[in-house]
Parts: sequence; structure tokens; C-alpha cells
Amino acid sequence: MYSVASRAFHWMMAGLIGLAFALVWLREDLPKGDLRTGMLSWHMDAGLLVLALVLPRVIARLLGGTPALAHMPPWQRILARAGEGGLYLMMLLQPLMGWLAVNLSGRPVSLLGFGLPALSGPDPALRSLVAELHEVGGWAILVLVGLHVAAALYHHVLCRDDVLASMLWQGLRRPDA
Ligand code: HEM
Ligand code: HEM
Repeated sequence: MYSVASRAFHWMMAGLIGLAFALVWLREDLPKGDLRTGMLSWHMDAGLLVLALVLPRVIARLLGGTPALAHMPPWQRILARAGEGGLYLMMLLQPLMGWLAVNLSGRPVSLLGFGLPALSGPDPALRSLVAELHEVGGWAILVLVGLHVAAALYHHVLCRDDVLASMLWQGLRRPDA
């Protein structure tokens, strides 16, 4: 079972990431105006909160431990941990790319109204590269999360083990697993 703190971080951050995607996708179809601008700044807030929560989450994981996954074949254990590593990497890189892209276009970044330091001065050429990396990063997250959710469902429905329960709640655990 993951600790309460690890589970809280997991679902809070999954929600923030979902929100970041929803906001940036929904605003595409809106006409220019306050709502469209506001949705981009909420996108940045959600993404920056993800970045801010990575370190406390890693600490919670180190202190609270991880389930042993002892019942799984080694290839599944390696894939599960590699997938988690990829997700952590993207939770760091994706918001940093977004932050950098905004600074490279000469604009400041703030989190919930508090100004953050600039990672760079303006540089339009580098900005388009970093913005492209941010777009590719979005796709990479979707692929990783897709595989991650498919693996969670595979374990719950087909293997009938406690992998999904370990991220939800004790009551879902199967007594015979
Ligand atoms: C979990 C974190 C984040 C995720 C998953 C994410 C994801 C995305 C996605 C999918 C797009 C659309 C890409 C496209 O199709 O062009 C996007 C655009 C963008 N993101 Fe993020 N992002 C995150 C964090 C941030 C942060 C922290 C910032 C800035 C502080 C930021 C700034 C932007 C900007 C300026 C755009 C371009 C919007 C536009 O031109 O319409 N993002 N992001
Ligand atoms: C509906 C969506 C999701 C489901 C059903 C889900 C399910 C799970 C389950 C069952 C585990 C425990 C199994 C294991 O240890 O590998 C887990 C762990 C994990 N998940 Fe998810 N997940 C979801 C979304 C996400 C998202 C969006 C991210 C981040 C981008 C994420 C990142 C992680 C990480 C890093 C772990 C390892 C435990 C930790 O350090 O917190 N998950 N997830």
C-alpha cells in the first residue's frame, strides 16, 4: 500500500495535469479575450504547481516506501519502475519547458500571482524550439499515462492483484491476492 501522503500527491497531481491539458485544449477554440488569456494563465498555474509538488512527492515516496511488487515477473517490475521514472522526469521537464518558453518570448511567469524569476532573456529562435519541445512533451506524457493506466487496469481486471488498490484504498484489496 502506498502511504496516505503518496496517494494524496498522486491523485492531486494527476488532477492538476488533467486540468493543464483541458485548459490548453479548450482555449484553442475560444476567440481572443480575457477568458482565453485567463485559461493560459491557469494552465501555467496548474503546471507550476505540479513542478512545486515533485520534490515533496519524492520525499513522501522515500519516507513512505513503495509496495514490493514481489508477485510480478521481473520484466513487469522493471517496466513499472521505468514508467514511473519517465513520468517523474516529465513532471519536472514539462513545466520547466513551459516556463522557459514564456521567458524566451520576453514575458514573465507567475504562480498564483507571485512573480517567478526569469530562466532566460528573450530569444525568439530558441523560443520556437523550446515551445516545440513543450508540445512533444505533452504527447510523451499522454503516451506514458496511457500505458500507465492500461497497466493499472490490466493488473486489476486480468491479474486480479492489489496494484490498483495500492494507489486507492485498503478496502479495495483482495484478501486472496
Ligand atoms: C504538467 C505541466 C504541463 C503540461 C502537461 C503542459 C501541456 C501543454 C500542452 C499539451 C500544450 C499544447 C501544445 C500545443 O499543441 O501547441 C501546452 C501549451 C503551452 N504551455 Fe504548457 N504544459 C504544462 C506546463 C506549463 C507551464 C508551467 C507553463 C508556463 C509557465 C506552460 C506554458 C505553455 C504555453 C505558453 C503554451 C502555448 C499555448 C498556446 O500557444 O496556445 N505550460 N502545454
Ligand atoms: C486515471 C489515471 C491514473 C491511474 C488509474 C493511475 C494508477 C496508478 C497505480 C495503480 C499506481 C501504483 C502502481 C505502481 O506502483 O506502479 C500508480 C503509481 C504511480 N503513478 Fe499513476 N495513475 C494515474 C495517473 C497518473 C498520472 C497522470 C501520473 C503522472 C503524470 C502518474 C504517476 C504515477 C507515479 C509516478 C507512480 C509511482 C508511485 C509514486 O511515486 O507516486 N499516474 N498509478
